[in-house]
Amino acid sequence: MKSVLVLNGPNLGRLGSREPEIYGDLNLEALTKQLESLATELSVKISVMQSDSESVLMAAIHDATDKGTDIILNPAAFTHYSYALADACKAHTASGAKLIEVHISNPHAREEFRHKSVISASASGVIAGFGFDSYKLALRQLAG
Ligand code: DQA
Repeated sequence: MKSVLVLNGPNLGRLGSREPEIYGDLNLEALTKQLESLATELSVKISVMQSDSESVLMAAIHDATDKGTDIILNPAAFTHYSYALADACKAHTASGAKLIEVHISNPHAREEFRHKSVISASASGVIAGFGFDSYKLALRQLAG
């Protein structure tokens, strides 16, 4: 069975209470349940993680690269400035494994600092602006 790692960056553990007008009123547990249910339907094994720490996210990406596991990554604010995560994503996609960058909101329709992603050039593709459906579209794509 195909495995997919769903990685969530900083502040995404605050979903549900953080700016609900932008991110909705459902929490990370609800997102995880929705993705687990879709994964079962698609016969994909998923593991969902969240960390506020760049080094924890990097270690998870490195591990997925070593295992050839595809990744759905919401880098959150690291999207806009983490060259360390960008390098790890580049090594991941260069190895032949896939990585889809996702965002709940559409960062291009928001503040200017969100318009730039340092991750996108290292991703297989980007899906943004569809709420939790951004993750589901990515999962469907990876399930092939
Ligand atoms: C986000 C968009 C980022 O700009 C922001 O820093 C986040 C969440 C999104 O999912 O819309 O934390 O990645």
